[in-house]
Amino acid sequence: MSKLESFIRRMTAQRDCLNHAAGLIKDIPGIVFEFGLGNGRSYDHLREKLPDREIYVFDRRIAAFPSCTPPEDHMFIGEITLTLTKAAKLFGKKVALLHNDFGTSDHAEYQKLINMISPLLEPIMLPGALIVSNIRFHIDTWEKLPEPSGVKPDRYYLYRTGAFCTECSL
Ligand SMILES: C[S@@+](CC[C@H](N)C(=O)[O-])C[C@H]1O[C@@H](n2cnc3c(N)ncnc32)[C@H](O)[C@@H]1O
Repeated sequence: MSKLESFIRRMTAQRDCLNHAAGLIKDIPGIVFEFGLGNGRSYDHLREKLPDREIYVFDRRIAAFPSCTPPEDHMFIGEITLTLTKAAKLFGKKVALLHNDFGTSDHAEYQKLINMISPLLEPIMLPGALIVSNIRFHIDTWEKLPEPSGVKPDRYYLYRTGAFCTECSL
């Protein structure tokens, strides 16, 4: 498969998983976290699909298209290991959807980062929240969900945190 084909498939999987997750969280009030603003493409997609949600983005630097740059008070700029600790204090159990789109060409380094930040995620995610990610997470309390139709396994990952119960969250 050419690099172009592979890129298109990955981006299609990303879009399809985000659309699927946006539908699955419709009864879960909460905010959205986007890990890896980059050019702002997936942020732009999320704000189009979820116009009523607050979306907070995380990146070590801002290099997004000007039209895809969030308001300053919705950006956490710096290393995720530092900014996530700060965000967790502000947004404990408030996140309904997390899109993780960090990345590096070094898969082992990336997996190390994911393992390092995993313990910080549990306290910020709502019960029944969705996680859409370009890399595997290994968190016992998260359920791995099947990919939406058309997305091949292991191209993009979907998880749900422990069950959502309307009465429990009152
Ligand atoms: C693949 S790009 C994100 C693409 C973006 N979602 C889009 O659709 O345009 C990955 C981004 O993650 C950021 N990043 C990678 N590792 C990071 C870390 N440890 N802390 C903060 N940001 C990081 C990079 O700076 C880069 O902008």
